[in-house]
Amino acid sequence: MPSDYHFLLFTILMLSWGFTFVKITHAVSGETVLVNGWTPIKNLKNTKVVDVGKFAVARHNFEDKTRLVFDHLVNGETRSQGGTEYNITIAANEGDNDDDDTMKNYVAVVFDISFRNFMHLASFRGPV
Ligand SMILES: *[C@@H]1O[C@H](CO)[C@@H](O)[C@H](O)[C@H]1NC(C)=O
Repeated sequence: MPSDYHFLLFTILMLSWGFTFVKITHAVSGETVLVNGWTPIKNLKNTKVVDVGKFAVARHNFEDKTRLVFDHLVNGETRSQGGTEYNITIAANEGDNDDDDTMKNYVAVVFDISFRNFMHLASFRGPV
């Protein structure tokens, strides 16, 4: 049947595209990766990842004159892009408002070039 044939062809094309992408990323990072290149962070209490979260909040506070206080990481993913790119969801308090200590979530993207001892806050948005 023609429609089955087209579906099969489409599937094969999508699969081969996906495999090519995963193979390329795999070769670069040497880790298990998703098709889009992002790997979920399994341990959100890992010191390194927590440091990245604290850096994002501190840097955002400096840039936007805010007073957010890092609490914990809600979610996160990484991918290799020369260094490591982090996309993390951070729970933080509004430090300058004593009455409102409810936590809100913020999404930050951070580039970490460890061998150069360099971290860059690419974006910080929220509350989400
Ligand atoms: C980061 O993750 C959030 C969801 O947690 C998503 O909305 C956003 O598009 C992601 N950003 C990048 C750069 O992948």
